[in-house]
Amino acid sequence: MNATIYWPIEHAPESDRERAIREAAKQIRAGGIVAFPTETVYGLGADARNTRAVERIYAAKGRPSDNPLIVHIADRSQLDGLVRPYGETAGRLMERFWPGPLTLVLPAVPGAVSPRVTGGLTTIAVRMPAHQTALALIAAAGTPIAAPSANRSGRPSPTRAEHVRDDLDGKIDGLLDDGPAGIGLESTVVEVDGDKVTVLRPGGITLDDLRRITPEVALDPSLERAKEGPAGTDGDSGTASQPTLLTPRSPGMKYAHYAPRGEMILVTGRSEQDVVIAVQSRIDAAARRGETTGVLTYAEHASLYQADHIVICGSLLDPAASAQSLYEALRQFDRRGVTYIVAEGCPEEGLGLALMNRLRKASAGRVVRV
Ligand code: TXA
Ligand code: MG
Repeated sequence: MNATIYWPIEHAPESDRERAIREAAKQIRAGGIVAFPTETVYGLGADARNTRAVERIYAAKGRPSDNPLIVHIADRSQLDGLVRPYGETAGRLMERFWPGPLTLVLPAVPGAVSPRVTGGLTTIAVRMPAHQTALALIAAAGTPIAAPSANRSGRPSPTRAEHVRDDLDGKIDGLLDDGPAGIGLESTVVEVDGDKVTVLRPGGITLDDLRRITPEVALDPSLERAKEGPAGTDGDSGTASQPTLLTPRSPGMKYAHYAPRGEMILVTGRSEQDVVIAVQSRIDAAARRGETTGVLTYAEHASLYQADHIVICGSLLDPAASAQSLYEALRQFDRRGVTYIVAEGCPEEGLGLALMNRLRKASAGRVVRV
C-alpha cells in the first residue's frame, strides 16, 4: 500500500477543507480506509458495505474479528435499508441525541452491511456523529461508514490526529487532521427493547441524559458487576483481570483496552485522603523496586504526590475536562517511559461513570479499593 495521505484541515480555508473531504470520500468509495475526527474520538472509516475494505480495518488495528463495528450515518434517511422498524423510545433517543455521542444497537436488515461489520450478530450499532467534518465525509462518500476508534487494538483511543499517526502511520490510506476530538471518550452504546434502554458501554451521553427521555434505563449487568468488585484485586499481588462471569452484551467490552504500556493500578475509595495515601504507598514500593513511576491524578491532588511523573487528568470539579484529557494522559506515560502507573479513581457520577469504566479497562481490572 502507498504511504498514508495527510490532510491537515484544522486551520485550512473552506475550499481546501472541502477538497480534502472529497478526496477522503473518494478513497472510502474506492475501498480505502481513512481516519477522521468525530466529537468523541478519531474513527477509522471504511464503506460499511465493502467486506474487503472492512477487513483492512481489522488488519490495520490488529482487532479481534468478533468485535463488531459502529456504522456512522449523516442523515436519518440512511437508516432505511440498514435497520428494521424500531420502537418509539429508540426514535425519541435519536430525536434528542443525534447528531451526538449515542450509539443505538438496533435489529439489522439482513445483508444491509458487510457481515464483517456486525460480526455475525443480527443487530447493528448505528450513530450519527456531531462533527461537521465527519458528517461531510459520510455524505460525500454516499455510503454508511463503518468505523471503530482509530487506534491499534488495546491502545488508548485517539483524541488527536498525532495519536492516529503514532499507531497507524503507513497502515491506512489517509487521515483527516482536524485538531483535537471534542468529548475525548467514545459514544454511549445502548440497546433498546421496547421502552427499556440498556447501557452496554457508558460514554459521552450520561445515564441522567438518557433518563430525561425515558425512566427505564439500566446498566448492563457486566458493568454493574465491574462497579462492585472484584474486591481486593491488586496489582501488587500480581493478579490480572478476573474472568467475567457475565458475558458483556457489547462484544468489545470483554477485551483489555485503552492500556498504556506500563503496568497500571487503579485506586478508588470514598475517602480522598485514604486514596492519596494508598496511591503514594504503592508508588513508593514501586520506586524501591526500580520502576519508573507515574501517578495519574486530578489538578486538585497533583501537589500531594511524589513520583517520577505526575500527569494531570483534568479536575475533580470538571469531569468533562478529565474526559478530554484521559487518553492523551495515558499516552504521555508511554512517551515518558513510565513502567508503573497508579491512577486515582473519580466519583462514578455523570461522565465519571464512563471515565471509571475506561480506567478499569486500562488497568486490566487491577483495582484497589481503600
Ligand atoms: O465514539 C465512538 O463510538 C467511536 C467513534 C469513532 O464513533 N467509535 C468506537 O468504536 O468507539 P469501537 O469499535 O472502538 O467500539 C464499538 C463498540 C464495541 O464495544 C463493540 O463491541 C460495540 O460497539 N458494538 C458494535 N456493534 C455492536 C452490536 N451489534 N451489538 C452490541 N455492541 C456492538
Ligand atoms: Mg475502540
